[in-house]
Amino acid sequence: MTTSEIRQKYLDFFVKKGHKIIDPSPLVLENDPTTLFTSSGMQQLVPYLKGQKHPEGTRLVDIQPSLRLQDLDEVGDKRHDTFFEMLGNWSLGDYFKKEQLAWVWEFFTKEMEFDPKRLHVTVFEGNSEVPKDSESLEIWKSLGVSENHIHFYGVEKNWWARNGTFPDTMPEGEIGGPDSEIFYEFPDIPHDPKFGKFCHPNCDCGKFLEIGNSVFMQYQKTKNGKLVELPQKNVDFGGGLERIAAALGENPDIFKIDLFSGIIKKIEEEVGVNYGADPGRDRSFRIIADHLRASCNLLAEGIIPGNKLQSYVLRRLIRRAMFHFHLLGAGISGGAISHVAEDLRNYYPNIDKNWQFVEENLSSEAVRFESALKRGLARLTFAVSKGEDINGKFAFDLYQTEGFPLELTIEILGQNGVNFSTEEKNAFASEFEKHKELSRTTSAGIFKGGLESKSNAEVTKLHTATHLLHAALRQILGEHVGQKGSHITSEKLRFDFSHPSKLTDDELKNVENLINEKIDEDLPVSFEVMSLPEAIKSGALHFFAEKYGEKVKVYAIGNPKRDWFSKEVCGGPHVGHSGEVGHVRIIKQEKIGSGVIRIYATLTT
Ligand code: ALA
Repeated sequence: MTTSEIRQKYLDFFVKKGHKIIDPSPLVLENDPTTLFTSSGMQQLVPYLKGQKHPEGTRLVDIQPSLRLQDLDEVGDKRHDTFFEMLGNWSLGDYFKKEQLAWVWEFFTKEMEFDPKRLHVTVFEGNSEVPKDSESLEIWKSLGVSENHIHFYGVEKNWWARNGTFPDTMPEGEIGGPDSEIFYEFPDIPHDPKFGKFCHPNCDCGKFLEIGNSVFMQYQKTKNGKLVELPQKNVDFGGGLERIAAALGENPDIFKIDLFSGIIKKIEEEVGVNYGADPGRDRSFRIIADHLRASCNLLAEGIIPGNKLQSYVLRRLIRRAMFHFHLLGAGISGGAISHVAEDLRNYYPNIDKNWQFVEENLSSEAVRFESALKRGLARLTFAVSKGEDINGKFAFDLYQTEGFPLELTIEILGQNGVNFSTEEKNAFASEFEKHKELSRTTSAGIFKGGLESKSNAEVTKLHTATHLLHAALRQILGEHVGQKGSHITSEKLRFDFSHPSKLTDDELKNVENLINEKIDEDLPVSFEVMSLPEAIKSGALHFFAEKYGEKVKVYAIGNPKRDWFSKEVCGGPHVGHSGEVGHVRIIKQEKIGSGVIRIYATLTT
């Protein structure tokens, strides 16, 4: 079955069960500083899982492109990827375990036609705070799952909350719950005893592949560290499209599915070696395919490689893909990278639509990486010629400052007859761990800080300021100005838009003055819910049209019927009157890519 058939069957099936299709969110959520990337379908639904009413009702379904970085350094095996598509369905206080488990079982055994004998399920065994999930056990049994295919696990495996947190580590306000997962067993793959004496669904030997997870999202962490029941019992289901396709193809290698076939073929063409011909090289094929798919999806959303946050991750993904090209002997050329990545246009309409932008930024990053590599090489060969000690710390510094990967350092040292000892590799690894710890703390900080600032009025004000800025830019510079991305912290806003060159001082001043004029007029900010075609007809800006649901919110600043200053399709929230924003000050501007300008602004009183 092709991946597009799986997607369609999934949506059709849950629509038949009374679900409304909602549009997935972008990989980088606008105005949500809680996480760097959308890493699961529930992320955009958190307020609704907590009890707010969703405009589309209580049964929702979608397919969410997601990005997970926990595995970034592990990607390279046959079943991990950074970017993936998650089939998702939700009950917002509507149905619960009985319907959900029966429906996923029906979907997998009837629609996907999996042999039930190959399926295993797992259930939460309970802990001191949350009881054993005997209800799910009984439901699985009633569906005909034999008891030796039902497995119990504790919080490490059968508890789900964002950031992989457990009941005791969930931050205040976070929601989570016990879950029940479905695994596919590959009968022909033998258990690898390296992973333990006995095989079981959560064993890492590759015999089992998780294909679906029903989370019973019913708890919230309170201030005093206790778990309390949410006002409603929810279901949050997620199933990995790539893994389902792999299981259906009876091949545990997700890189063999249709979505990857074109890109793998193009890598083969570039390097003159076939995937699967040499196990030593296969890892590089997988890293290139995965990282380019993730990178192009990020670029298509207007994210640009850089040194901070999402941009830094994007830079690492592109550079790592290029390095593996180098390892495969194909050199580092923007042309080759773009040639390979171009195949993704066939599968991702957003990449296709934004190809010129994607291609330009991919190639220019290749050029930058090439010169970083040259600098690194010069440093390295100079140090070697001086007979300097190239130790783990030196290698890490090279990695850190020039993006020069360890594997390359080792390769070049080898060419010069210098051996990089295991001890030094360990020294590198320990520097690396220190750094990882640091970035983990930083992301945890973002997560925590974000949760706090979400309730923070500053974020709401900055969000309204973003709309004012957008409208002012269009009025002063012209209607070619379109939003390419935006990000808000509790201190400032960042807004990326299409425009060929940086603004002149006069233009900047005029934009700032216009915004503050509209603030001084204290215009009302209001919204109406309508269909997307109605929204477009009403004159609302809608820059991510393909991502909206059937019903959208349209926010207007000024009279929504005529002469409004700003009107945009947007989820909110916003202040009630523009005067509440305070005053806006533009702090700086940058040209961040061809035809994209970035403005930073802050609020003053
Ligand atoms: N949110 C759940 C997951 O990501 C379904 O596994």
